[in-house]
Amino acid sequence: MSRIVLGVAGGIAAYKACLLLRRFTEAGHDVHVVPTANALSFVGETTWAALSGHPVHTSVFADAHEVPHVRLGRDADLVVVAPATADLLARAASGRADDLLTNVLLTATCPVVMAPAMHTEMWHHPATQANVATLRSRGVAVLRPAEGRLTGADSGAGRLPEPEDIEASALAALADPRAVAGMAAQDLAGWRAVISAGGTREALDPVRFVGNSSSGLMGVALARACVQRGAEVTLVAANLAIEAPAGVGVVPVVSTGDLAAAMAEHAPSADLVVMAAAPADFTPVSRSDKKLKKSGDAGLTVEFTQTTDVLAGLAARRPDGQVVVGFAAETASDEDDLVRLGTAKLARKGCQLLVLNNVSGGAVFGAEENEVLLLDPSGLVGRAAGSKTSVAHAIVDAAVSVRERRPA
Ligand code: CTP
Repeated sequence: MSRIVLGVAGGIAAYKACLLLRRFTEAGHDVHVVPTANALSFVGETTWAALSGHPVHTSVFADAHEVPHVRLGRDADLVVVAPATADLLARAASGRADDLLTNVLLTATCPVVMAPAMHTEMWHHPATQANVATLRSRGVAVLRPAEGRLTGADSGAGRLPEPEDIEASALAALADPRAVAGMAAQDLAGWRAVISAGGTREALDPVRFVGNSSSGLMGVALARACVQRGAEVTLVAANLAIEAPAGVGVVPVVSTGDLAAAMAEHAPSADLVVMAAAPADFTPVSRSDKKLKKSGDAGLTVEFTQTTDVLAGLAARRPDGQVVVGFAAETASDEDDLVRLGTAKLARKGCQLLVLNNVSGGAVFGAEENEVLLLDPSGLVGRAAGSKTSVAHAIVDAAVSVRERRPA
């Protein structure tokens, strides 16, 4: 359980912060809500108090004997401001301390995530952009606002990101300081990332297929990490068990053949290509147009042929400067054995980075946690363990170092 301060500034999107608050409390976090006085014009104190289970104040003078303006910020594991209005960003950037929320921001030493929401013109105004740049340079993870319908009939950049996306960024910030640094630095701004995720299905007949247990969790976590760090992301999605993150272009595919075609189309213009999908290595030689029927006691024999190796093909055609990342799940007896198997696979595939999993102790498919080694052609360059979110940011860090070492 983490202690989260949820700051709410005065914008119509304040109502969405109620949903974010619910998500945090249902996940078991202890949340103190600190609205600005203007936020209370949109959602009242009673709602925040009832949903959080804590008293709610906006001023530094309430319960002054408990010194809440210092205690709340100092005790927090994470501060999330949603919505962060243009005014709140300006006050935070200039270090003002004119209400409880800005006091909390000045006393907090934990990660701070801000989710802006305002009209498009206000977001693009040089003053707001300068304030965002200042906050980011101080390590504050100012998220990109979503695009879409605003308060009235108008639409554009400035919508509050959806509560589940803010929660994902908040959880990334809680899980790993590297995620906060990446989100604040926007170190993938200007990058195009193409990521495959999920498991392919090779059809036997109109209703049956040969598939695998890949849930797509790792690929989706990577796509989300790349978006959070400023990249434009295409997710080539093979039968995902979960939803794709917002802000990602999704290309649905079914079979390894579809996946190969989609990657061939989208990868050439990418800066980063990640093959996190589990494509089938074999596909039936022929697919029956009609549903296969039982015939007496006879069994079924299916002849398979090998599919193309998508990763090896992408690595062979890699444009200068592009970073190609592969995954390998190996059953190794120990770490040396794992590194030996991984080194051979990295050379065979020709990729710049290989994310290595030891699956001998039980499958990682569908699990929330993961433990990986990161290999480049020089050998072991990193390791990461923890939530797939945290591992995803570690993989992105490694990909950024590879690109910095080998400029186009
Ligand atoms: N991969 C691919 N195309 C395939 C099979 C796998 O691009 N037809 C990619 C996976 O997405 C992953 C990497 O190759 O990034 C390694 O997958 P893995 O199954 O470990 O490798 P294989 O080549 O199938 O090797 P093995 O002989 O160990 O099964």
